[in-house]
Amino acid sequence: MKPVKVGLLGLGTVGTGVVRIVEGHREDLIGQVGSPIEIARIAVRQLDKPRAVAIESAKLTDDPWEVVRDPEIDVVVEVMGGVEPTKAYILEALKLGKHVVTANKDLMALCGSEILSTAREHGCDVMYEASVAGGIPIIRTLIEGFSSDRIDRIMGIVNGTTNYILTKMSQEGASYEEVLKEAQQLGYAEADPTSDVEGLDAARKMTILATIGFRMNVELSDVEVQGISKVTKEDIACAKKLGYELKLIGIADRQDDRISVSVQPTMVKRDHPLASVSGVFNAVFVRGEAVGETMFYGAGAGELPTATSVVADLVAVAKNLKLGVNGKQSAAVFKEKILKSEAE
Ligand code: NDP
Ligand code: HSE
Repeated sequence: MKPVKVGLLGLGTVGTGVVRIVEGHREDLIGQVGSPIEIARIAVRQLDKPRAVAIESAKLTDDPWEVVRDPEIDVVVEVMGGVEPTKAYILEALKLGKHVVTANKDLMALCGSEILSTAREHGCDVMYEASVAGGIPIIRTLIEGFSSDRIDRIMGIVNGTTNYILTKMSQEGASYEEVLKEAQQLGYAEADPTSDVEGLDAARKMTILATIGFRMNVELSDVEVQGISKVTKEDIACAKKLGYELKLIGIADRQDDRISVSVQPTMVKRDHPLASVSGVFNAVFVRGEAVGETMFYGAGAGELPTATSVVADLVAVAKNLKLGVNGKQSAAVFKEKILKSEAE
């Protein structure tokens, strides 16, 4: 059985989870794919950093180009983050005919259509399930599960760090700075947590969800954003007294062909399902004309939940490789729609 060879860019929180799942679920993955998935090369920034998983030193490099250009690699899994130089690595991988799995919402929200059109030109898959809501398979659900419906609202808690902070401030009276530090230690926060606390990470995720869900090209610059950095313990206590929880809520609405997207701290009535979403958990509410109201719930960040989504994408790409249908499956529907709306 010829293995599917993976080049991993990044071995931090998510990359470590990817290695653990690919190794820990090896036999089950072989059963699904028909071939072993082998992590053949890994790019990191610091070669001598202690790692939480055992890695042969020959697999490691501090030069991502070596991984991207390695002719043996079938799939590049990008979990290093950032827009540049990451975008250059991904575009080069696609031009070389390699498939890409990424958890990078910054990149997909800003450059998604360029990446997807490059993938289409070269007959490659690009999958990005982990870029929104960690372990909740919401992207696949919007593309495939609701393909028959017309969605008019996507709303929810899509940032784990801020929900963790607001929950701890509300339930334990903890200080904002203290809990932010905890979220960083737990691997929930972005390398620069400003993106989390100022609502940018949630705005990027809402851009991706609205683009896919409404099948229209939504720009990050169109999202109204306000974060939680100015929320005080007093605000939270006051909301509680009135029977509300303060949550960072993203809302994307469509009325006919007009779309509005926003992210802001919002008072949520205590008996609303979003009020009880605690800690690092995320929840996404989707309303469709035909299906009505639905809601999806799960861990929104962290090593293993996020890696679950990354490896699920990897399995999908590997199955496509076996069938020889890369670049032609459901993600292609999204690509067509984006390109169509760009051309208009
Ligand atoms: P980390 O900071 O934990 O890990 C980043 C990894 O990339 C590290 O291994 C680092 O190397 C490596 N790296 C960074 N820059 C370079 C470079 N220029 N060259 C080579 N290697 C590099 O990040 P996370 O794992 O938390 O996040 C990765 C991606 O996943 C981001 O896009 C993030 O937004 C996304 N994501 C994260 C989630 C989470 O819960 N953490 C959830 C969903 C998505 P070294 O180890 O040597 O420092
Ligand atoms: N920093 C992000 C969050 C990681 O806290 O939700 C998951 O995308």
